[in-house]
Amino acid sequence: MSASYPAIRLRRTRATNWSRALHRENVLTPADLIWPLFVTEGQNVEEPVASLPGVSRWSVDGIAARAREAVALGIPCLALFPNTPAEKRSDDGAEALNPDNLMCRAIRAIRDACGTDIGVLTDVALDPYTAHGQDGLLDEAGYVLNDATIDTLVGQSLNQAAAGADIIAPSDMMDGRVGAIREALEEEGHANIQIMAYAAKYASAFYGPFRDAVGSRGLLKGDKKTYQMDPANAEEALREVALDIAEGADSVMVKPGLPYLDIVRRVKERFEVPVFAYQVSGEYAMIEAAAAAGAGDRAGLVMETLMAFKRAGCSGVLTYHAPLAAQILRG
Ligand code: PBG
Repeated sequence: MSASYPAIRLRRTRATNWSRALHRENVLTPADLIWPLFVTEGQNVEEPVASLPGVSRWSVDGIAARAREAVALGIPCLALFPNTPAEKRSDDGAEALNPDNLMCRAIRAIRDACGTDIGVLTDVALDPYTAHGQDGLLDEAGYVLNDATIDTLVGQSLNQAAAGADIIAPSDMMDGRVGAIREALEEEGHANIQIMAYAAKYASAFYGPFRDAVGSRGLLKGDKKTYQMDPANAEEALREVALDIAEGADSVMVKPGLPYLDIVRRVKERFEVPVFAYQVSGEYAMIEAAAAAGAGDRAGLVMETLMAFKRAGCSGVLTYHAPLAAQILRG
């Protein structure tokens, strides 16, 4: 009786470093990373965010320094989020329209520090500016109004565009906002400003530390389920993406990240457009907690999860681990 051999040995190509490198299907580089940063008032201020160990809010000068760091690391884009002082928050979120708000000052500081060496992505939604912590304007019953909110979001987008934003990223989930923003950008001479739509954004339990960072957690009553998506739904995500593309989005985002890789893959296969994922604050905190508890090696956990996004079809990932990952990748 002859010995039985496996007809195919998949382990053969895995046996050495050089062979694994040769057969690797996906690569991650610093150019795949978008680094989210939190902006706060003051000069020379760094405020650590307790629920996001290793992440701080920076005053505008510190944001400029982070931008220089990002350029040196090969990170192509920053995402900005303001921690608006309490006295500037209001029911209508009017501070979002102030040409000298934290966001606009941070954009200009990055531009002064780095010119066009780095992209600036700006979040469009009212939650860092409202006294109630919702992303839009409320009616008497506390329902987030769609069309009235869009008027403010358009103003907010034009304000960011005038300050020098490169990518407008609406994260508010109002129906029709991408089209309204696109049209306003065209009319105001900003034809080359991109829109990255938070197209499939879920009402997630993973946003807690972010809300601490922008100071909206204590203000928010209730939840965001009347506009953010139900985690049970996937077909609906495809409809959201189809609309945002039709309305003029240049790229789309899925958020959160790791729990929604199935959505990333389906969006990529169906639409063949640039897809990004946001590995959100709660995901970052989970990895940090695992590393701190000795349940896994931080670098290993970070690089494996980021590669998973590439494998799923992402063009890039928004991650608070961007500087660490870029350092690791650069050796
Ligand atoms: C707000 C916004 C949120 C995040 C990005 N933009 C939170 C929310 O919708 O409540 C979350 C990002 C993160 O958790 O890292 N429009």
